[in-house]
Amino acid sequence: MKNKILVTGGTGYIGSHTAAELQKHGYSVVIADNLCNSKKEILLQIEKITGKKPEFELIDLTSPEDTQKLFEKHNDLSGVIHFAAFKAVGESVEFPLKYYHNNLFSLVNILQAMEKYNVANIVFSSSCTVYGEPDSLPVDENAPVKPAMSPYGNTKQVSEEIISDSVGAGSLKSISLRYFNPVGAHSSGLIGELPLGVPNNLVPFITQTAIGKRDVLKVFGKDYPTPDGTCIRDYIHVEDLAEAHVIAIERMIKCNQKNDFEVFNLGTGSGNSVLEVINAFEEVTEVKLNYRFAERRPGDVPEVWADTKFANGELGWVAKKNLADMMKTAWKWEQNLAEKKIF
Ligand code: NAD
Ligand code: UFG
Repeated sequence: MKNKILVTGGTGYIGSHTAAELQKHGYSVVIADNLCNSKKEILLQIEKITGKKPEFELIDLTSPEDTQKLFEKHNDLSGVIHFAAFKAVGESVEFPLKYYHNNLFSLVNILQAMEKYNVANIVFSSSCTVYGEPDSLPVDENAPVKPAMSPYGNTKQVSEEIISDSVGAGSLKSISLRYFNPVGAHSSGLIGELPLGVPNNLVPFITQTAIGKRDVLKVFGKDYPTPDGTCIRDYIHVEDLAEAHVIAIERMIKCNQKNDFEVFNLGTGSGNSVLEVINAFEEVTEVKLNYRFAERRPGDVPEVWADTKFANGELGWVAKKNLADMMKTAWKWEQNLAEKKIF
């Protein structure tokens, strides 16, 4: 058995895929989650995929005392992958303090516990939202961080600053991974995204419309300065993302970092429009999607996709799955949920 990794938010969408991938690589995994946006049954699903159920701690990481106790109990950690956060952009505009409280307090508590219990390595879930509307495309890691468009986005910027300051002052080391648009589900169909209520994001909205949970998909805007008039994003398969996390934590454990705080873009390096995503879905699933054009959604940037050269070169990681894989797995997951094969 290799090292033990604490995965906060590990029953969530990206965390569960990463926990499975870590176990596949022989790591021992402890998941810490308060289940505010996920289900405990995901642990059984991870066991079905990997043959091993991760250890689980039900904990709200905004509690400093409980976070300290977690590290006191698991005193043999080689690193932390910190996913736990709220992530709905629109909700963060409505309830900014809820977002600052949850996303920032939990991070500070984790970092303090890491210092106290001598755990050096933390991988942080950041987002391409820190680039705002980039001046040029593709956007690389040296592009300026723009004023945040939402309190959620601001929590990612401030979190990166908190981590950078903490690394500079002490013994911590970190890798911040800036995700572009994570979509799709595990190829087994056993884990995937579980949006509570009406989804904000495109792909869950597509699959829920196709399965009949929603009447119609609204395509936000058709007059953007893009080839087909709809917004362009860099969609990345969640399994590719999970693999990058394993590589990142391993890089720190093996002391292969060039700097104690590194930042990497995680995307495929190419963008697709909303209409291209819809067409890919229809092609792969042979399901006709009910969609119509609607007003632009406030805050959407017309186009953004990643320059992934730094991640490709330094991490030796390349996203392998294409848009068809993303649609196929997202659809399989939605069908499994509908047929109650999961919960
Ligand atoms: P998710 O909501 O599926 O997973 C987050 C998990 O954290 C959930 O299981 C939730 O119960 C848990 N959690 C939240 N607050 C907690 C707390 N105080 N204590 C303990 N557990 C807590 O989200 P996800 O899509 O898997 O995102 C994971 C991370 O990646 C987040 O930090 C998110 O901001 C970031 N991110 C996500 C996307 C995306 O599109 N999904 C894009 C960029 C960055
Ligand atoms: N879209 C629709 N209809 C929908 C939902 C989305 O047309 O019902 C469009 C959006 O307008 C956008 C594209 O599909 O053009 C992608 O939208 P998502 O909401 O899926 O993703 P975003 O790019 O807006 O947001 C994602 C993450 C955020 C992160 C942000 C950074 O969800 O967490 O990327 O840009 F902050």
